[in-house]
Amino acid sequence: MPERLTIRRATPDDAADVAALAAKTFFETFAADNRPEDMAAHLATAYGVAQQSAEIADPDYVTLLAFADDALAAFAQVRRKTPPPCVTGDGPIEIHRFYVDQRWHGQGIARPLMEACVEAVRGFGGHTAWLSVWERNPRAQAFYAKAGFTRVGEADFWVGPDRQTDYILALTIA
Ligand SMILES: CC(C)(COP(=O)(O)OP(=O)(O)OC[C@H]1O[C@@H](n2cnc3c(N)ncnc32)[C@H](O)[C@@H]1OP(=O)(O)O)[C@@H](O)C(=O)NCCC(=O)NCCS
Repeated sequence: MPERLTIRRATPDDAADVAALAAKTFFETFAADNRPEDMAAHLATAYGVAQQSAEIADPDYVTLLAFADDALAAFAQVRRKTPPPCVTGDGPIEIHRFYVDQRWHGQGIARPLMEACVEAVRGFGGHTAWLSVWERNPRAQAFYAKAGFTRVGEADFWVGPDRQTDYILALTIA
């Protein structure tokens, strides 16, 4: 457990740190189960200073950072995006990315970060949080179940040219 955990919105100055953590965490989580060339293709398009700068500045995104003892330990993004048809709840808002640095897994950072995401969903006027999780990511599925999400459907997710199956989860927010 960190001695001190702080969560705040990202600013443009954070873009490089967010890009580095995002690429590192994506690689650590999925490299063992994906072809190197597919990983490289995804990392090149999804993460970088330009990409995360644009997201941080985008009014349809809220990018949240969690600092453990003043070091960046996790980030999450909430965004306004049309959901797949299986998400039928009122006011759907997506939790787009949710990544905790490996060294901080299981240490109580994910839950407060999720609470901050739910607040951001409310801030967008949302009443339903929805997200996608890879069918082969049991740890994330276990965490989202603890947070109250239930499975409502499936969708394709592309890692480079590799089509994979994501579960779509949703949570009603009072
Ligand atoms: C998903 C993530 C945010 C969860 O944060 P965390 O700190 O690891 O979450 P927790 O430890 O509170 O909860 C994970 C649960 O899964 C369990 N778990 C761990 N490995 C597991 C596995 N292989 N299969 C099933 N459950 C597993 C843990 O024991 C824990 O349950 P418990 O509290 O009952 O013991 C974090 O692991 C992470 O960032 N992973 C890498 C990136 C990622 O996958 N992001 C989600 C993309 S959709």
